[in-house]
Amino acid sequence: MSEIYRASTTAPVNIAVIKYWGKRDPKLNLPTNSSLSVTLSQADLRTHTTASCSSTYPKEDTLLLNGSPQDVSGARTQACFRELRALRKQLEDSNSSLSKLSELPLKIVSENNFPTAAGLASSAAGFAALVRAIANLYELPSSPTDLSRIARQGSGSACRSLFGGYVGWEQGSATDGSDSVAFQVAPASHWPNMRAVILVVSAAKKGVSSTTGMQTTVATSSLFAARANETVPRRMAEMQKAIQEKDFEAFGKVTMMDSNSFHATCLDTYPPIFYLNDVSRAAIKVVESINAAAGKIIAAYTFDAGPNAVVYYLEENEKEVAGLFKAAIGEKDGWKCERGEKVEANGASL
Ligand code: PMV
Repeated sequence: MSEIYRASTTAPVNIAVIKYWGKRDPKLNLPTNSSLSVTLSQADLRTHTTASCSSTYPKEDTLLLNGSPQDVSGARTQACFRELRALRKQLEDSNSSLSKLSELPLKIVSENNFPTAAGLASSAAGFAALVRAIANLYELPSSPTDLSRIARQGSGSACRSLFGGYVGWEQGSATDGSDSVAFQVAPASHWPNMRAVILVVSAAKKGVSSTTGMQTTVATSSLFAARANETVPRRMAEMQKAIQEKDFEAFGKVTMMDSNSFHATCLDTYPPIFYLNDVSRAAIKVVESINAAAGKIIAAYTFDAGPNAVVYYLEENEKEVAGLFKAAIGEKDGWKCERGEKVEANGASL
């Protein structure tokens, strides 16, 4: 048993076009609404993770992210470790010839191929890669859907990074979270000319964490109930139709309206949460002027819990969208396009 057992994997970042914002169960990360995202290409933004276990390791599980030791004692990481170990234990109990890996300390080593501090969604790729690397190490027969149920407990949005292409997360209704899983709306190959440009407005860490922000919004915003119960369910249907029909105008309009709706509930939170700043608002204006000049929607902005803009567009409009962005605001203070100027959203399906 002094062997080292090892498995590696990668998971890409996903950027939501219908945002997850609100938890009905903070412990299990069960959301108050379904959401939908586009998984970006592995070549651009992804986490690479190696999971290993050995009786020769120190007793405690460890996690190294970009060379720095991370705290693994948090409830979320512990939930992922616990669930995956329990599945391995089941296999070991049913087959006595299997090594008892579930009893060995884990060593997880992760690297992001983008700056972790750049304010880009890193926890989604991080937890998706962590869960899949351990599942591979344990040789679990789990499907991406099963793994999405576990990754969700690490970070809600991580469940969507277990699939490539266009991915939904069904909120579910079970109190144990068994039906709160990700599903593929369409593979990347269905609409392969989708592109995204990421505009790094600020590399600072977000002021209000998504968990704290969500809890305060649910507790205080008067707009929240209408968003969760009426607006998002309608838009989930509209968005899936837009993707099926490869209708960029519908896709873009719903994307922008949902981002606005999410940030409106943030402003309506008490005390208010401001994720957008003046540069973010300038990006919205640029997108509006691009669309006005084209006479139709060819660019669509969306913002997560921070000021950085992600702008979706189709490859044939590269010049009008990515080109104009650089020309219009590339020189402004605080506007950095140092990485990910052109992030393709047509990565291979996982
Ligand atoms: O998964 P979390 O807890 O980091 O929350 C993500 C929240 C948003 O990025 C704002 C929206 C989303 O659906 O990804």
